[in-house]
Amino acid sequence: MKQNGVILWLTGLSGAGKTTIAQQLENHLREQGYLVELLDGDAIRQNLSQGLSFTKEDRDINVRRVGYVANLLSRNGVIVIASLISPYRAVRDQLRHSTKNFVEIYVNAPIEVCEARDVKGLYAKARNGQIKYFTGIDDPYEEPLNPQITCYTDKETIDESVVKILHWLEKANQLPKLAAIPIPSRNEFQVM
Ligand code: ADX
Repeated sequence: MKQNGVILWLTGLSGAGKTTIAQQLENHLREQGYLVELLDGDAIRQNLSQGLSFTKEDRDINVRRVGYVANLLSRNGVIVIASLISPYRAVRDQLRHSTKNFVEIYVNAPIEVCEARDVKGLYAKARNGQIKYFTGIDDPYEEPLNPQITCYTDKETIDESVVKILHWLEKANQLPKLAAIPIPSRNEFQVM
């Protein structure tokens, strides 16, 4: 039986907590026996999207590439967790319509909170002009208008956000069934 997976698309500002939530979710689901793959912005930009800039055009290309791979994986039963800023609404909406089981998850923290965290020191660089077109500073972030799930990471712990996502998936019946793989009999292997 063909089993569809699901695409969990985490969007939000740099420093909002996307990667941390994505990693915890990945670990939990894998421990439960699910096939799961994490497509994280930073790793994608070092590999699949090496050389792309942060212009709108390149960000949209980046998002489409990840969407393409996510679709290949999810149609083979994999739970895909994509964690990218993906700041433009239109391209996110395109993906929502062109893929199956696309779940938009808004990892929401006010820009002031992300900037105060400044985990990678990039906000400081953006403020003093060392980095241009930084999302939320001098480049736009278009909030999702109707995300299936919103994680408020300035008010919730990471665990609470992860549990919220898991509960939503369970309620929406979006977790692939963990089916035992039938072992074929010897006869089924015989070549004519
Ligand atoms: S996206 O806009 O194309 O979806 P993506 O999630 O892949 O972005 O990459 C964002 C990461 O790149 C950030 O977490 C940050 O570490 C780094 N980065 C470097 N320059 C920028 C920039 N101008 N705007 C946003 N993030 C940047």
